[in-house]
Amino acid sequence: MTVMDADRAVAAPADVGASIAISNVTVVYGAGGTEPVTALKNINLQVKDGEFVSLIGPSGCGKSTLLKVVSDLMRPTGGQVTIAGASPSQMRKAGRLGLVFQQANLMPWLTIRRNIGLLKSLVKGHGGKVSTTGASAEELLDVVGLTGFGDKFPHQLSGGMQQRAALARALALDPAVLLMDEPFAALDEITRDRMAFELMRVWQQYRKTVLFVTHSLGEAVLLSDRVVLMSPRPGRIHRVFEIDLPRPRTPETRLTEGFSKLVLELNRELYEVMS
Ligand SMILES: Nc1ncnc2c1ncn2[C@@H]1O[C@H](COP(=O)(O)OP(=O)(O)OP(=O)(O)O)[C@@H](O)[C@H]1O
Ligand SMILES: [Mg+2]
Repeated sequence: MTVMDADRAVAAPADVGASIAISNVTVVYGAGGTEPVTALKNINLQVKDGEFVSLIGPSGCGKSTLLKVVSDLMRPTGGQVTIAGASPSQMRKAGRLGLVFQQANLMPWLTIRRNIGLLKSLVKGHGGKVSTTGASAEELLDVVGLTGFGDKFPHQLSGGMQQRAALARALALDPAVLLMDEPFAALDEITRDRMAFELMRVWQQYRKTVLFVTHSLGEAVLLSDRVVLMSPRPGRIHRVFEIDLPRPRTPETRLTEGFSKLVLELNRELYEVMS
C-alpha cells in the first residue's frame, strides 16, 4: 500500500470515515535491552469506512499498545498502519484523529466550550488546516447532551458529563477516525450504559470509523459491527466476531437471544484464550 501525502489526506471528504489498515504490526518494548517485552506480534486488521470495531482481551494483551500505534503515540517495531492511505503521523498532524481515553483530561482553567474548541485553535495557531465541515462547539454541546453547560468549568460537571465533553472535543476537529481506549471505564454502571447509547447515536449521525477498547463483553457486542478478541502476550488476534444484530440497537437488543448468544460465545472464547 502506498502512503499518500498529508494534503491528500486532508482533501479527503471530511464527512466520510477512513478505513484503517493494520499490517503485520509488531511492538517490542525495550527492544535491544536485557528483558524485551513483545506486546504485539503480527497484528493484521482492516477496519472499513464507518465501521465500529471493538478490541477485547485479557489485561496486558496489547490493546492500548495497538491504539497507541494507530493514534501515532508510538511507532511499531515492525509492520505499518495506514489510515485512509496516509500514515498515522500525517493523519494526526492534519487533525484527522479523535482520541478519547479513560480520563477526560479537560483543562481545569478553561470553560467546557473552550475545552471543546481547544484543539481547533491549537491546530489553527500552528498554521494547520482545520476542516470547514466540522460542527461548532455549540452544536457539539447539543450532540453530546451538554446544552447550556458551555460556560461551566470541568469541576462543575460530573464524571459522565466530563467524558461527554471529551467526546465533543474529539469530534471538534471532524476526525476521520475515533480511537477510544476504555472511554467509559471510570464511570458508574448507569452512566456508562447511557454513554454507550449516546456514543451509538453520535456514531450513527457522523458515521466515523471507530476503534474502541473495552473490558465489557456486553458493551462490545452492543456497540460493534465486529469484535476482535486478542490473546495474551504476545498479543495476537485470536478471533474476530461478526456482530450481525440489527441496527439501531436499543436497550431491548440486550434482551434478545442473538445478543445473549454472542456474549456467551465471546465469554467462552475469552476464558479459553486465558487458560
Ligand atoms: N512503556 C512500556 N514499557 C514496557 N512494557 C510495556 C510498556 N507499556 C506496556 N507494556 C507491556 O506491554 C504489554 C501490553 O500492554 P498494554 O497496555 O497495551 O495492554 P492492555 O491490553 O491495554 O492492558 P489493559 O487491559 O490492562 O489496559 C503489557 O505486558 C505491558 O506490561
Ligand atoms: Mg489498556
